[in-house]
Amino acid sequence: MSSRVSARTIGFGESVIREMSRVCARESGINLAQGFPDFPAPEAMKEAAVRAIRADVNQYAVTWGAPNLRRAVAERTSNYNSVPTDADANVTVCCGATEAMISALMALINPGDEVIIFEPFYENYGPDCILSGATPRFVRLSPPTWSFDPAELEAAFGASTRAIIINTPHNPTGKVFSRDELEFIASLCIKYDVIAITDEIYEYILYDGLEHVSIASIEGMLERTITISGLSKTWSATGWRIGWCIAPADITGAIRKVHDFLTVGAAAPLQEAAAEALQFDGSYFSELIESYTERRSILQSALEDTGFEVYRPSGAYYIMTEISGLTDEDDVDFAMSLLADGGVATVPGSSFFENPSDGKRIVRFCFAKRLETLNAAARVLRERLA
Ligand SMILES: Cc1ncc(COP(=O)(O)O)c(C=O)c1O
Repeated sequence: MSSRVSARTIGFGESVIREMSRVCARESGINLAQGFPDFPAPEAMKEAAVRAIRADVNQYAVTWGAPNLRRAVAERTSNYNSVPTDADANVTVCCGATEAMISALMALINPGDEVIIFEPFYENYGPDCILSGATPRFVRLSPPTWSFDPAELEAAFGASTRAIIINTPHNPTGKVFSRDELEFIASLCIKYDVIAITDEIYEYILYDGLEHVSIASIEGMLERTITISGLSKTWSATGWRIGWCIAPADITGAIRKVHDFLTVGAAAPLQEAAAEALQFDGSYFSELIESYTERRSILQSALEDTGFEVYRPSGAYYIMTEISGLTDEDDVDFAMSLLADGGVATVPGSSFFENPSDGKRIVRFCFAKRLETLNAAARVLRERLA
């Protein structure tokens, strides 16, 4: 019998990351798998959402985003990212960075188009390509610094290349792309007439004094870049589903059409609260970095003490580890045995690679957790592995 469901959906499986969260709940484990905080979202932002609901901001917002939020996004992007942004011409508010990415790809891709993706990659980008009809071309980031080979990158560009996806700070590796690297990528985008789609959802979570560089701020790139970010990570509100993308006016027009027919719009009262949150002062962002720096060091010590080889992240809130010194099991078996019976949930490395066997000696830990959660996880790791 022929399949009742589309070939397109058969092309990808269920999200491994989200599956690990479900298994974790079943095993009463400590969830260091999926990238979401287990601590409260900012009080002032929550109060703003309550006020908006009580003020009856409960009907559809403008499809491409409430004016207040688009203005706040434009101001932040113009100042923090050095990317001149107009609230009316360039900003589309979406249901998370996730929807922004798929809307951007659907706005750009024609059959036969290729999209370059750095590997390991955030697992959504693979299905995003399948859903939008793009053919992915993978370019390797190599440990320990997760740098790319410039010749390999240039070889991936060609007549069919429509876009390149950049993610900085990078999930899963914690790499922060340097200005030099982004200038090189920009030169290839210009040479081959390619659009950069840059996922900067972790743009404020940087360590060791590193600077965030948006590729749209590099000369010649403003007119060929789609910059994506959102509330989920910096404002610890992954469940609100508020994200946005910034693009040149013609591309914004196409993205808004896709977005309108996919979702109509993001939650109206939460957009009002997000507009206030984006105007938090500088101390909010410096405290965020301080608290994540402490969490990084607790988890890093626990992992090093228990035999993992650790790749210290420069940004975002994940640690990639090699498990070769600990076990002969592959990543999935190791992750499942570490999680069983109240253990620790991680993400098997194979979910970040096109060819799963390339990730079979890797697991990823998330440290967007309360200190007590991280300390409890450290105790379990020491009991089971040290
Ligand atoms: C690189 C990256 N992009 C996007 C997302 C999802 O963002 P949002 O919650 O805004 O859809 C995640 C979440 O883990 C991520 O790691």
